[in-house]
Amino acid sequence: MKSMTQDELKTLVGQAALQYVVPGEIVGVGTGSTVNKFIEALATIKHSIKGAVSSSNASTVRLQALGIPVFDANEVGELAVYIDGADEIDGRGYMIKGGGAALTREKIVAAQSRQFVCIADESKLVPTLGAFALPVEVIPMAAQRLIRQFAALGGAASIRLKDGLPLVTDNGQQLLDVTGLQISEPLAFESQVNQWPGVVTVGVFAHQKAQVCLLGTASGVKLIAYG
Ligand code: 5RP
Repeated sequence: MKSMTQDELKTLVGQAALQYVVPGEIVGVGTGSTVNKFIEALATIKHSIKGAVSSSNASTVRLQALGIPVFDANEVGELAVYIDGADEIDGRGYMIKGGGAALTREKIVAAQSRQFVCIADESKLVPTLGAFALPVEVIPMAAQRLIRQFAALGGAASIRLKDGLPLVTDNGQQLLDVTGLQISEPLAFESQVNQWPGVVTVGVFAHQKAQVCLLGTASGVKLIAYG
């Protein structure tokens, strides 16, 4: 049997996530290539939901193009479910996110939701977080000091560029990508970095971890539930 491509695995988990969408409700929607598959699937049941709260301008554009109403997070209360991808996920449901630069709004919508359903292909499953460069959204005037703070932890941080210039996030800030970290205690690490002045959001999602992961594997979608 021909093995599935990463793109096909993303389609599979994007479609599988529909089972978590609650009819008549507003769903939290993440950002990225896996979520784009989910958005396509969501469009097929759009008449059964009220709409979505989006985690990025990019997802908002896609949702609206497919006729799915997008609500401001402040217009709505708690959401039943938030569906998003990850750059890495470990055996406890802790994640690194922000490869698509949307980590701040992703964490906000995740915090507003009762359940985080992570959709990912199996390349994202890791024993310990940190092989993927950790994204951190920062206030630009703090960037160089924060680069030194990460160096003191053994990490090498650099400002993410786009077309040769610092990337500007949806929130008007910059991103650091930090390599060389082994994040074995994600809860403590997230709390520590959150306290550094100038950090807007650290891309470790431990306090907003996944409750469920739908993992695309060669043998189909594997459901992992975290305690
Ligand atoms: C965006 C994210 C994404 O969820 C993460 O980068 C995974 O993206 P993809 O599904 O394209 O692999 O955190 O900020």
